[in-house]
Parts: sequence; C-alpha cells; structure tokens
Amino acid sequence: MIVLGIETSCDETSAGLLQVTRKHKEILSNITASQLAHSKFGGVVPEIAARAHIRLVVPITKLALEVSKKSFGDIDLVAATRGPGLLGALLVGLSFAKALSLACRCPFIGVNHLEGHLLSINLDHPDLGYPYLSLIISGGHTELILVRKKFDYQILGSTLDDACGEAFDKVAKMLKLPYPGGPYVEQLALQGEDEAVGLPVPKVDGYNFSFSGLKTAVLYYVKKHPRYRKRDVCARFQKVVVDLLVQKVTKAAVEFSCRRLGIAGGVSANRYLTERMTRELGRLGIEVVVPSIGLSTDNAAMIAYCGYERFLKFGPSSLNLPAFARFEGF
Ligand code: KG4
Ligand code: ZN
Repeated sequence: MIVLGIETSCDETSAGLLQVTRKHKEILSNITASQLAHSKFGGVVPEIAARAHIRLVVPITKLALEVSKKSFGDIDLVAATRGPGLLGALLVGLSFAKALSLACRCPFIGVNHLEGHLLSINLDHPDLGYPYLSLIISGGHTELILVRKKFDYQILGSTLDDACGEAFDKVAKMLKLPYPGGPYVEQLALQGEDEAVGLPVPKVDGYNFSFSGLKTAVLYYVKKHPRYRKRDVCARFQKVVVDLLVQKVTKAAVEFSCRRLGIAGGVSANRYLTERMTRELGRLGIEVVVPSIGLSTDNAAMIAYCGYERFLKFGPSSLNLPAFARFEGF
C-alpha cells in the first residue's frame, strides 16, 4: 500500500510517501518546507502560515512523488492532519487531501497530529511492548501519555500553561536569539554553567507540567542582571526543564510499571534531554527511545504512518471530517 501523508498544522508544509505491508514499512519520501517568514515576528503568524501552505502544498506533494518515483495514480490512501493546530493552516492540508483522494479515487483519513507524533517512534521501533510511556514535547504541546495497548491511551498529565517548546522559544526571544529558539538554547547551553544562575524549579502536583513561572523568572533575571551571560541562562533554564521532565516521567514509569519511554515532538531533538533521560531512566532499567531526527519535528511520514494504522483498524474518514484547533484527547 502506498500512503501519502500531508501535514500543515503549523508552520511546516510537509508531504511524504510511505510504502507499507503488514510486515514492512519504508519511507519513500518525507519532504518538509519550513516557513522562514515567521522568524522576523518571533512566532508563527497564523494568516501567513495558511497562505504559505496554499503556495507550497502542491509543489511539495509533487516533489514527494518525484523523489519516491511514484505518480498520483499509485496512491492508495491519503492521510492528512486534522488537528490540533492553527485552523487556517489545517484547512489547507485537509481540503487538499480530501480533493486529492476524490481525484485519485482512493480513501482519505484524517489524523490527530499528536497521535502522529506518538506513533512516529514506532516507525523506527515497531515493538515497544505494552504498557509504555510517551512524552510528547513540542512547540504546541506537552503531554505525558500511558499507552496501554494499541490505540488505548491514558493522558496522565499536560502542561497547565506554556508548552515545553514554547517555553524554549520564549526564553530564546528574551535572549534575542532567532526563532524557533529551542535549538539555539541547546547550543548555547553546551558552553554554559548551569549553577551560575538561580532559577526556581516549577512545583506542580501529579503528572502535570508548568513552564510559565520559569519563563517569567528568566525575564526577571535578565532585567535585573544587564550583564548576564546568555549561555549560563540557557544552561540553567534547560537543566530546570529537564529536571522537571525526568522527575515526572520517572514517577509515572514506576507507578505504571513501564519498561520503555518514547519521547516525540520537536523538543525530543534536544540531545541534553535525551542523554539525561537515557542515563537516569536507564538506572531503573527503563529504555528510552526517540524518533530519528527527521521524524521528531513536524513531518508527513508520521502522519502517513498513523493514517495507515488507523485505516487498518477503523476504516476511512468521511469527506465531511472537520479540522479542530485544540487537543481534547484522542
Ligand atoms: O513538533 P514541532 O516541530 O512542532 C510543533 O508541533 O510544535 O516542535 C517545534 C518545537 C519548537 O518549539 C522548537 O523550538 C522545539 O520544538 N525544538 C527544540 C529543539 N529542536 C526543536 N527545543 C529544544 N531543543 C532543541 N534541540
Ligand atoms: Zn508537532
């Protein structure tokens, strides 16, 4: 089966082809155009994102077909992100995917972006064994999920305010680093002293997260210390975030007897985070898995794969399927 995935939930226009059988899956292409137009605004501008998707979705899809050496007639299933995300942006990919499925006379399926991230891990690691934990940390979301069985999810905790990647981006903006700032914070932190700056560790009950107090503490620190060193602020901020994530995930892994943790979403590209998780959870015999680099940030291959798995179990979506902006469960 050849599955075309389309992802347009935020500021990446992505199209990719996946060739799948019950035993084998191969990503034939996974082409992503990142919209650079937002960087001068220090954040994603929804109207600009939607217009850029309109311009890019057809050429990126054609490129994905070309790279895969396939044509429109070879597509057996079209999968597109239906939410959560920016409504205008989502509608571009969703409408395009529906129209393409009609034109190609093949089924269409709508995919939850977060389930796409969650299953992105299974593209490289098909057998995680149940139950396992999944931590989704991206620019829009921070979710700790217990995967009890295939398609059987329990959301253990979420952020109460900013998403993890959003906190990285906002701190980067305060430090006058480019957008999106997560990778810049990580780079600078490599040369910084994490003990040189005092920042409070967020205290949140249960498995929920909170990052806005920490972000505000960085703001006050920067205002109070005009000669602050960016690299030390980055190192401290990153350490406090990772301390919090490690603490919550360890508690959940023990409580729910999980032997594996999958980390997905853009922030899973952070090496300091994955190395610490691997080391600290490894001591408890818990294995940490992350998607390979092209699969950690927003991409179409994860949407194609999630669409394929859902299609096998639940069949196609209706062409009336709406987009949705907010995550309210799977
Ligand atoms: O999953 P993603 O591509 O898009 C959303 O669904 O939001 O995640 C993007 C987020 C941004 O906030 C970006 O700053 C963050 O992931 N990010 C990182 C790193 N690479 C990307 N944050 C920290 N360290 C990184 N290396
Ligand atoms: Zn995402």
